[in-house]
Amino acid sequence: MNEANDILTVKVEKLLWRGRGLARLDSGQVVMIEPGVLPGELALVRVTKTARDFLQAEAVEILESSPLRTAHPCPHAESCGGSRFGMVSPHEGTRLKADMLRDALPRALGRDLGVNIPQLQIVSSPQGWRYRWRGQIHVRGGRPHAMAHASNDLVPLNDCHLLATPLAAAMPALAQGLPDGRFTIAASPDTGLAASENDRVLLPFSFPEFGLTLQLPPSTFFQANWELNQHLVRATVDALHGFDRIADLFSGAGNFALPLASQGKTVLAVEGSAAAVETGIRNAERLGLSSVTFHDANLAKPATWKLVEDFAPRAAILDPPRTGAKGIGRTLLAMPSLSRLVWVSCDAVNTVRDAKPLLEAGWTVSSLTLFDMFPGTWHMEVLMILDRP
Ligand SMILES: C[S@@+](CC[C@H](N)C(=O)[O-])C[C@H]1O[C@@H](n2cnc3c(N)ncnc32)[C@H](O)[C@@H]1O
Repeated sequence: MNEANDILTVKVEKLLWRGRGLARLDSGQVVMIEPGVLPGELALVRVTKTARDFLQAEAVEILESSPLRTAHPCPHAESCGGSRFGMVSPHEGTRLKADMLRDALPRALGRDLGVNIPQLQIVSSPQGWRYRWRGQIHVRGGRPHAMAHASNDLVPLNDCHLLATPLAAAMPALAQGLPDGRFTIAASPDTGLAASENDRVLLPFSFPEFGLTLQLPPSTFFQANWELNQHLVRATVDALHGFDRIADLFSGAGNFALPLASQGKTVLAVEGSAAAVETGIRNAERLGLSSVTFHDANLAKPATWKLVEDFAPRAAILDPPRTGAKGIGRTLLAMPSLSRLVWVSCDAVNTVRDAKPLLEAGWTVSSLTLFDMFPGTWHMEVLMILDRP
């Protein structure tokens, strides 16, 4: 019987969902290792938790490295928890994520459901590093810090390889003007102008393909990898070709709703953050997009779903937070006007859990695309299109 703090030598079989390594002891017991190990590696691990049928562990030393392992480009990598997959090239990182997704989805769906999973499409990030136009920093004594890996300690930062170059360059000056605390910082991909959430400025974010430029306060949520977001929005708009009345649920400030409205679609955008809704309304007014209506409403409440049902959408976009939207599958199933769902997911296993009632009722998965929005990390966005049978 193994106990917490035991040191074991294990061979990593594969990566599981959320980047954890899977190994098996001679006894057959499963060991799940914190993100940072690669398939095929021999590692010394420390048991951090024992459960009835598996052990949790963290790597202490890599005894035999995978040929995929390269030097991490960031000097803070050892201490900072921000880029646990920076030890593989962005290209190999995408490939590993695709393997993780292909392995995790059938298990999340349950084999008895008999859902046909279409061939996975993959869209890589144009930039392997320095792709984030929005990030969070911890400020202490006017200096930027990051949260250390697996602890609440703070690590001083003078650069971050995940941040776009103008944002990384501005980070120390932004931190100087802030009190101690955690802050969002952002920069415009159009102009490079950087600001913190405390600054009362608007940053331009363009969609060249749609001829639109949004003006966003630095505090607003937007897809951090703005270049790859262009592809995600294009794919979403394409998936809704031929659908007129579209509900954009968890819409944020209108990342999908505004480009769709620019194509003449009638869109109901529903979002729980009042600030994001206000930003969406201001942008729609400024751009003269009158076919989109924004609603500040909580999608966990039945009254909000009455609003959506009254709109009678033919299709819906769902882009919930990482934890997903429990119970949403049953609600969507009960909405007779809907025939297509475009589900944008930053945790595809949670999405499958939420979509199960629809899949059990015969809705099909028509396409599945991995957008590698977050190179250097195990995170990914997955676009899943579901159709009524
Ligand atoms: C992953 S973001 C997506 C935002 C937007 N679709 C985009 O691409 O920028 C999820 C959004 O869901 C919103 N949200 C979270 N829980 C919600 C709820 N219960 N009701 C409505 N909106 C919610 C958050 O405020 C956030 O804007």
